[in-house]
Amino acid sequence: MTSNDQIASKNGPGFQQIGQPLDRIDGRAKVTGAARYGYEHIVSDKCAFGYILGASIGRGRIVAIDAQAATKSPGVLLVMTHKNAPAQARFGEPTTATPREVFTRPRPVLGDAHIRYFDQPIALVVGETFEAARAAAGSIDVRYERLQGDFEPELCAATYRPERTNAGFATDTSAGGFAKAFAQAPVKVDATYTTAFESHNPMEPHAAIAQWEGDRVTIYTGTQTLANVRACVAGTLQIPLDSVRVVSPFIGGGFGSKLIAHADIMLAALAARVLQRPVKVAMTRQQMFANAGHRPLSIQQVRLGADRDGKLIAIGHEVCSSTARFEEFTEQTGVFTRSLYAADHRVTRHRLMRLDTNRGEWMRAPGEAPGMLAVESAMDELAHALQLDPIELRIRNEPNLDGTSLDPDRGIPFSSRNLIECMRRGARLFGWERRSARPGAIREGRKLIGHGMAAAIRPNYIGPSRARVVLEPRGTLRVQLDMTDIGTGTYTILTQIAADVMQMPPASIKVELGDSQLPTTAGSGGSWGAASAGSAVHDACTKLKRQLLDLPGIPPGGLQAEGSVTRSAEYDRYSQHAFGAHFAEVAVDLDTAEIRVRRMLGAFAAGRILNPKTARSQIVGGMIWGIGAALMEQTLLDPLHGAFINHDLAEYHIPVNADVGQIDTVFIEEVDERANVFGSKGIGELGICGAGAAVANAVFNATGIRVREFPITLEKLL
Ligand code: MOS
Repeated sequence: MTSNDQIASKNGPGFQQIGQPLDRIDGRAKVTGAARYGYEHIVSDKCAFGYILGASIGRGRIVAIDAQAATKSPGVLLVMTHKNAPAQARFGEPTTATPREVFTRPRPVLGDAHIRYFDQPIALVVGETFEAARAAAGSIDVRYERLQGDFEPELCAATYRPERTNAGFATDTSAGGFAKAFAQAPVKVDATYTTAFESHNPMEPHAAIAQWEGDRVTIYTGTQTLANVRACVAGTLQIPLDSVRVVSPFIGGGFGSKLIAHADIMLAALAARVLQRPVKVAMTRQQMFANAGHRPLSIQQVRLGADRDGKLIAIGHEVCSSTARFEEFTEQTGVFTRSLYAADHRVTRHRLMRLDTNRGEWMRAPGEAPGMLAVESAMDELAHALQLDPIELRIRNEPNLDGTSLDPDRGIPFSSRNLIECMRRGARLFGWERRSARPGAIREGRKLIGHGMAAAIRPNYIGPSRARVVLEPRGTLRVQLDMTDIGTGTYTILTQIAADVMQMPPASIKVELGDSQLPTTAGSGGSWGAASAGSAVHDACTKLKRQLLDLPGIPPGGLQAEGSVTRSAEYDRYSQHAFGAHFAEVAVDLDTAEIRVRRMLGAFAAGRILNPKTARSQIVGGMIWGIGAALMEQTLLDPLHGAFINHDLAEYHIPVNADVGQIDTVFIEEVDERANVFGSKGIGELGICGAGAAVANAVFNATGIRVREFPITLEKLL
């Protein structure tokens, strides 16, 4: 028996390819440069180059804009400003907002003279070359009328209650009588944590090429969800949906920043229409910090009340996060708290403060990532106050423990919940027994060594998706859907799924993604991609196979079938989440307070793992992001002008290889029959959930200093 056989034998009947660590199908194309990204597509006519000019004030209005010199500049084809840009739909909060609508609503650029945030696009210069366009942009003269902007969250006394949190979750929840129960609890934690603005920076910056043929436009770009871009472009330009085609076969990362269409796409589409010539527009890395979304900052009050045995009586998680004045976004920071631990008295609350920045957007594990930094730190504080092991504290507050297995908030059963197993297995593999409960107790020379842990929870979603499979006469199976592979491994796992259902070798399967002319899927986001697109492919293959059974062979003209998946009633009967436990060991220098993460281990229960190799990559990426969230990442807003100051990768600190010690991951064997046809759960965002809190708790364990203001930069320890 080879090691692969051992993996396969765990997979249960019917699955040979699923569960195997198949190498990335698209790996060779990517490393040889054959894979084309948004800016690189070859279009028929010679492409013109757009350069975005951004506003140099944070709030106000353009009084005058003089583009004469730029227009006459050599090689310049067009200078587009709010004065000559084609008509678009107007900004404005829609009155019939559905959870989905936030992804597709019209988002005009150069629509009027208002400046809503610093570096907002105020002109697009289009030239024969990029350099010609950029040089001309420098000669545009702008006069502004400034308005006093709100750029200081600390001064933001006025907060307000949004109608609903992101993705349609309830804004507030309460159960029992929190205030009284918390007041009477014998052991309490009442702590306020803050998290900073964070900026997602996929390797591939936001970029697009637009090409018109008559009334129809094709957009080549990198996006997580083609249907969102298509709807947003159609809605903003006020043209029929059918007139927009989106092509996105390869994407250099997204992390939530490519869920919706941004200015690059809209500006390329507008300019290409005016010029009747293809136009490409890319944001510079610096422009991305203002224009490609960011994670809002948050102020989170966590209140935990427990009895002396560590049983939680009251859980409160109240969040205020930032949003833009012109467009609302509420990160669902308190939502996971509703399902994580049991207590009779609970409250969660979301409030917003308006700032004059761009809108916040979804960033990997929106909600859980900042929320678990706070709540899982507070659980560590409670364990310390109780002198109880942090794992034992969490076990005592498992909703599963008394056999009821109900989601504390929704009162419905979990589809599966193996958090305890994650903590126990993780503790064993990590060597948790080496930890000293007393902070600062372990020293190696001038280093203090600390160990910390945190739980992880992340919802498991599925979204409506369709797929087509075409069996060609020669035996190649083409799998077609408008799904994306944002680096997660979609090409690979869809190949494995089709191979298993059709009982064909992976080499005979050709997965075609990233064209809106193919059947529509939910795209990549929210960790729903694999289950959604995969289930649609599974369904299509199952139907094709049934057709084949009635035939002597493949007909001369080939054979095709369509499949689909929707969110079923069965799905909604269960509270669906993936779980995990993170462990971290840090060394803190006694003299300089330098924090090094020596090693991390994460154990996860996420249903059947479709491909352990690509799954591990997802998880490891998330865990590294956890190190960033705990120790480094913060985008700083200039309180005077409203600019994000550290707007490049030299000054926006993320963990580099030298900042990441050893990382180990383990998946608990689990098949969740209630999740989907594979028994899998989403893992794209699970790795970051709780990872930062494990690091923060290790820092406390090393030093005895509890930093509640993230990131824990070293001056906070001195
Ligand atoms: Mo994710 S933040 O939904 O791409």
